[in-house]
This record gives sequence, C-alpha cells and structure tokens, in this order.
Amino acid sequence: MLTKLTIPMPDDWHLHLRSGEMLNKVLPYSSQHFARAIVMPNLPSPVVTTNDAKKYRQEILNNLPEGHDFTPLMTLYMTENTDPEDVHLGFLKDDITAVKLYPAGATTNSDAGVKDLEKIYPVLEVMEQIGMPFLVHGEVVDVDVDIFDREAVFIETKLIPIRQRFPKLKIVFEHLTTKEGVDYVLSCNDNTAATITPHHLVINRNAMLVGGIKPHYYCLPVAKRELHRLALIKAATSGDKRFFLGTDSAPHLTTAKESSCGCAGIFNVANAISVITQVFDNEKALDQLEKFLSINGALFYGKTVNSQHMNLVRSDHALTIPKNIKTSKGVVTAFDPLIDVYWQVV
Ligand code: NCD
Ligand code: ZN
Repeated sequence: MLTKLTIPMPDDWHLHLRSGEMLNKVLPYSSQHFARAIVMPNLPSPVVTTNDAKKYRQEILNNLPEGHDFTPLMTLYMTENTDPEDVHLGFLKDDITAVKLYPAGATTNSDAGVKDLEKIYPVLEVMEQIGMPFLVHGEVVDVDVDIFDREAVFIETKLIPIRQRFPKLKIVFEHLTTKEGVDYVLSCNDNTAATITPHHLVINRNAMLVGGIKPHYYCLPVAKRELHRLALIKAATSGDKRFFLGTDSAPHLTTAKESSCGCAGIFNVANAISVITQVFDNEKALDQLEKFLSINGALFYGKTVNSQHMNLVRSDHALTIPKNIKTSKGVVTAFDPLIDVYWQVV
C-alpha cells in the first residue's frame, strides 16, 4: 500500500478569502497548502475594477504569514457596467487573472450580478481575444426553476448560447455539482474546463437533510443526489485536463449559518488536500491526484506548474477534524467530511 506521496504544490482555482479580520484568520490555511489561488471578488462591496482588485490583493499580501509563499490571483466581479478597456489593461499588467459571472441574486453578495447577459458581450469579446478566463457561477435564478435543477437549466439556457457566440472564449464552469455539468464539459473542446470542490466529492444532499437539517453542509450550488456525486468523482479522478480543484472554501460565522435563514458556504481549506487525497485513494486513483490538484488548472490558466513540492503521508489512524476557527465575532465551523481521512500534509 502506498503510504507516501510527493506532488507539485497545489493551487486553488476558486477561493473566498473575505476581508478584515476574517481574511486574517482564514488566509494561513490556504497559504500553507497552496501556492496560488483564484480569489473570488464577492466582497460585500464587490471587486469591480482593476483598481479595487489591486487594493484587495495588497490587503491579502499584508495578512500573509511570514514564510508563506502564496500568490493571490485576482478576479473582477462582472457587472452590466464592466469596462472592457479596464479588463484588458488589468489582464495585460497581470493585476487581474479572470472575470467572474454571478447571475444576480444567485449566491452570497451577488446582488450586483448580471441580469441581461447581452450587456456583457463587449467584455466577453475582449476576453476571448486576449485569452482571459471567464468564470461562471452556473445557476439560473428564475423563481420557477427548482433549486436542484438550477445548474442543468443554466447549461441549456445560458451556457450553450454563450459558447456558441464566443467559441474561443476560455470558460471555467465553477463548482460543478451535476452529471449534466460533467457531461457538458466533456462534450466541449479544451476551451471549457470546470472546478470541483472537496465537499461535492464527499457529500450528497442527504448529508444536509437527513436526520435533521445540517447547515454546515449547505452551500451553493447545493449538493445534489448521489448519482451526481459519483459523476464528479469519476471526472476528478479521470485525470482529464478539463477538471481541477477549486475548493470554494467560503467561511461564514457559525451563528450566520445556524440560523432560520442560514448563509451558503463551507469552510474547507483546513483539510481540503487531505480529504481529496483520501477520495483518490479510495478510488485507487492516487496516480491522477497531481493532475487534479497541481497540473490541470495551471495548464488551463496558461501558468507554469509550481516548482515547489508537497509531501503527503498516510497515517495508520484516522485524522481528527480540524478545529473551528476563532474570531472576535465568533467561530467559523471547519468542514467535517463524514469519511475517515488518513492522508496528512507533512
Ligand atoms: C459562496 C460565499 O459564501 O461567498 N458561498 C457558497 O455557498 N459557495 C458564494 C459562492 O461561491 O456561491
Ligand atoms: Zn464560490
């Protein structure tokens, strides 16, 4: 049995770092295990211009623990007023890496999101020309669409038309949760890729709803039924270069989640690498692990694979769940994967 592994240092291609004290408390968990991360722009006052992104990047760097080698890759929050010229210049100067689409109202802090997709076509035209990735939160928000169908309907009504109109645009379908999503990505060429989260690889909707309502398993897109989880496992462990890790780690205070109207988001970076390695081990796919964690995303984003390395060891006893994070406003609950995890970063 394999008990030791060395892989190139992983990257996280979808991460919520927040700001202020929360940023300060959660950042070390990312910067200890990841060399780079795509930082989501959905702050309460969203990151909408390159100037906003530069300020936010500086705030992140100011909070980086000494000795941690971590590069935040910044994104803009797409609005109907996003300026194509600002996007173009920001990308050329390496101040921003991608632009994120949140359909208005789809998730946390998404009120400023896009209602009319045609309004962003001038930005997409520029992005297609310069090879800049377009990141999509792939859910429709129509009141008459069932929440478990939002991703599948988004593919049919939004993504396919965008893809037809912009055939060369690099698109990342973020936090894939369905078999329909996996099948869609597989039907595309190399311009379409998808991130997959650790939690969607280990939980289905039962984790959230059976035996009482479990708010710490509530995130968006919401976990689906088991057949979808199995499709995600197959995609992630296949080694196919279109699938890579985006943790979607999204910290909220425990009090904001344990509420009559609880927030969506799971804080998972404290054990993300261990959980994913365990999933690959259980699937007898450890030989594909580095593609999912460290190679496929870098190649899609046109970056070099990290030269630093990470060592993992399989211990003979199951690890304990990471401790909750303390802030002056209360704790953040860390993700419990509900499976035995033996792999540890050393
Ligand atoms: C994210 C958050 O809290 O910012 N929540 C989540 O459930 N994933 C937003 C998002 O990515 O949808
Ligand atoms: Zn997210």
